[in-house]
Amino acid sequence: MSFTLPAFTPAQESLFLTLGSRALDSRLPRPFLGDTMADRIITTTGYGLDKFPQLNTKLLDRRSKVFDVAVRSKVIDGMVRRFVLRHPNAVVLDLGAGLDGRISRVDPPTTVEWYDVDFPVVADLRRKLLPQSANAHNVGADLTDPAWLRDIPSDRPAMIVADGVVLFLTQEDFVALLNRLTTHFPGGELALNAYTTHAMRTFKRSRAMRAIAGDLANPGLNDPGLLEHWVNGLTLLDEIFLTRTPEAADLPLIGRSAARLAAKSATLSRIMATVVLRYRF
Ligand SMILES: C[S@@+](CC[C@H](N)C(=O)[O-])C[C@H]1O[C@@H](n2cnc3c(N)ncnc32)[C@H](O)[C@@H]1O
Repeated sequence: MSFTLPAFTPAQESLFLTLGSRALDSRLPRPFLGDTMADRIITTTGYGLDKFPQLNTKLLDRRSKVFDVAVRSKVIDGMVRRFVLRHPNAVVLDLGAGLDGRISRVDPPTTVEWYDVDFPVVADLRRKLLPQSANAHNVGADLTDPAWLRDIPSDRPAMIVADGVVLFLTQEDFVALLNRLTTHFPGGELALNAYTTHAMRTFKRSRAMRAIAGDLANPGLNDPGLLEHWVNGLTLLDEIFLTRTPEAADLPLIGRSAARLAAKSATLSRIMATVVLRYRF
């Protein structure tokens, strides 16, 4: 089937970096995540991953290419799954959802209302490419526009996910968005992946990120405690270093040794690999 893709901004294009990583992961003999739907979607779109040299290169072992994205998805999925089990009347918001089929991986009770928010062009693609269900809603909006939140129920506990999106928001827009969200809902949790200022500077310069570098707007976060000061009612519950996850033992020798070394230090872990943060509000 031939599929015509629209033109994307660098931020929108980045959804193929994460989707492509999950697709490649699912082709591993022992996947970290095993999201075969990601692979089907990439194949249907016919999108060539050559824009992302780190996914295309033959020099890197495939496990090293996909580890960060696949394992952080798995960690965040677990947070969402546990939240909706405790709150079957929850609202889940996946901010900057791209073409991620997280709802299929989490498989929440049908009493959960799930909202995938991304730019209108991406929300339209989701409607064409992902399975639809009565309790799953695609919201086409810019996250920095306060208007879209008015249509989201405000009387249920909320699980808010920001997976791979913070790097495209200025610190001011990100903090304003979080303050709107924590005010809108009676309470809930927030799960996101964070990068240090050093990682953000490296991304902006790196050849691997050239396709999306133009829209990298966030300066990075070195201290997860800062968000508690900037956002009303936010309390840090977990800081999960991917270097310390059991999945790191399945990396090839060099990656495994580096992860084991970095795992001894929080600072090194923050520099070396993705960090997943979970807050309560
Ligand atoms: C790296 S992708 C991550 C997609 C998805 N969460 C995943 O893990 O595959 C970043 C996504 O954030 C979206 N995004 C970035 N800035 C946004 C904004 N201001 N409003 C809505 N979506 C935004 C992009 O369109 C893109 O789909």
